[in-house]
Amino acid sequence: MYTGIQHLHSGLAYLVLIALIIVIVLMLVGSLTGRDFTEKDRKIAMVAFILAHIQLLAGLVLYFISPLGLELLTGGGAMSDPIARLTALEHPLINIIAIVLITVGYSRAKKLESSRSKFRSIYMMYAVALVLILSRIPWGSWLG
Ligand code: HEM
Repeated sequence: MYTGIQHLHSGLAYLVLIALIIVIVLMLVGSLTGRDFTEKDRKIAMVAFILAHIQLLAGLVLYFISPLGLELLTGGGAMSDPIARLTALEHPLINIIAIVLITVGYSRAKKLESSRSKFRSIYMMYAVALVLILSRIPWGSWLG
C-alpha cells in the first residue's frame, strides 16, 4: 500500500507540473493576443485542476502512512532537521495552499465576464501555485 501510493504520488508529480506549465503558457498567450476564452480553454485548465486534486488526495493518504509524514513530525526532532521538516511539514502545508490557489483561479475564471480576466485569473493563480510547489519539492529523494 505504502509503496503503491508513493509511486503514484511521485509519478503524478510530473503530470501536475507539466499540466500547470502548459496551462500557464496557453492562458498567458490567450490573454496577450486578446482572443476569446473558449470551452476548450476551460477544459484544459480543468485537467490541471483535477490532476492537482488527485495529487492532494494521494499526498494526504501518504502523509498518514509514510515514515516521512506525520510519523516523523510526531516522533520529535523533525523541526530541527531541515530534510525531515520538508516532507513532514513544509511540503504538505505549502502544497495544500498551492492547490487552494489553483482552485480559486479556476473557479473565479468561471464567474468572470471578460475573456482576458478569465485567462488572467487562471495563469496568475496557477503560476503562484507552481512557484510554491517547486519551492517545496523534496528534490533529493525525487530525482536523486
Ligand atoms: C501538487 C501537489 C504536490 C506535488 C507536486 C507533490 C510532489 C511530491 C514529490 C515529487 C515527492 C517526492 C517523491 C519521491 O521521493 O519519490 C513527494 C513526497 C511526499 N509528499 Fe507530496 N506533492 C504534492 C502534495 C502533497 C500533499 C498535499 C501532501 C500531504 C498532505 C504530500 C505529502 C507528501 C509526503 C508525506 C511525501 C514523502 C513520501 C515518502 O517518500 O514517503 N504531498 N511529493
